[in-house]
Amino acid sequence: MKSPIRKAVLLVGGKGTRLRPLTLERPKALVPLLNQPLLSYELSLLARHGITDVILAVGYRADALKAALGDGSAWNVRLTYVEDPSPLGTAGALKNVESLIDGPFVAMNGDLVYDVDLGSVTRAHIESGATITFCLRRVEDIRRFGLIQCDDNGRVLAFKEKQEVDETRRNTVNSGLYVMSPDVPAQIPPGREFSNETQLFPGLLEAGHPLFGFVPPHQGYWADVGTLESYLQTSRDLLGSAIPWVRGSIAASADISPEASIHPPVCIGDDVNIAAGSVIGPNVAISRGCRIENGSRIRNAILWEDAQIQAGCELADTVVGARSTTPEGSRHVGEVIVQ
Ligand code: GTP
Repeated sequence: MKSPIRKAVLLVGGKGTRLRPLTLERPKALVPLLNQPLLSYELSLLARHGITDVILAVGYRADALKAALGDGSAWNVRLTYVEDPSPLGTAGALKNVESLIDGPFVAMNGDLVYDVDLGSVTRAHIESGATITFCLRRVEDIRRFGLIQCDDNGRVLAFKEKQEVDETRRNTVNSGLYVMSPDVPAQIPPGREFSNETQLFPGLLEAGHPLFGFVPPHQGYWADVGTLESYLQTSRDLLGSAIPWVRGSIAASADISPEASIHPPVCIGDDVNIAAGSVIGPNVAISRGCRIENGSRIRNAILWEDAQIQAGCELADTVVGARSTTPEGSRHVGEVIVQ
């Protein structure tokens, strides 16, 4: 369903410390997933729902983001970059884009892979007249997430972190996606670090603002890419068609020896070279320009651009950074390799 709201603010200024050392080289929003930058999945989701005016609240490695994403036309959106002068936190970054807000807008953490009907969420926001509409997910295990308890009409009653059980039994948690009325940035103090989750949202609730939770009728795929485990898991999920409109592919320019074995699902980029006797897959994404020498075995792995796997290596549950090399005959399980 198309969205009646056309503007979004994506928070992409964080340092991504949990994904270091991968995020020392590039910001989290640009880590490759099925050979596309992580943020491309949010940009595609927004474009699919007609939300084409997208503000990126950038900070850490802003130049790399601008160089990689440009004006956004590759994803059918128009990007505007606004840089935090210093780390401002998730709410401080929203305050920093205040001058560009002229109506209700979608706000989203920039590290999500989410398949959701944004039209239904934005419509619910307009109908309820809420200050903020929280797009909620129902989960079985609430312990890892921010619990948002609502009454029968969806009005938010409480925000609770890291609970064991939800006594209301609704188990609705924060997805990191919100629809906000244009006066929200005015509620955030200027020029200092301020958090959505721990300061802005509880403060607005206490002040009596109408905050609503909305559970979309169809629960699509959701993941946040924060750790090595969630990065590898999300790659596996997408290779396994968790989102119907996302597919891995094998580039026509890949040079794959007829004596290599490829076990789907895999995603293989341009100009990749795979030598005889290699066994690739399942669940492997190989970015452009990588070289896999003879007799290597790779499963559950992500290779960034121009990585080189020398002969006879074994890799599992591992990420190899751009231009990095694994020495001949080496074995890597659950590792991040950057050189
Ligand atoms: P960790 O350091 O590993 O926790 O990762 P992170 O920096 O991404 O932090 P977190 O997962 O809490 O952030 C959620 C989203 O908000 C991510 O998309 C971040 O890029 C973004 N974000 C976090 N802090 C800031 C900030 O100070 N400014 C801006 N513009 N975005 C932020």
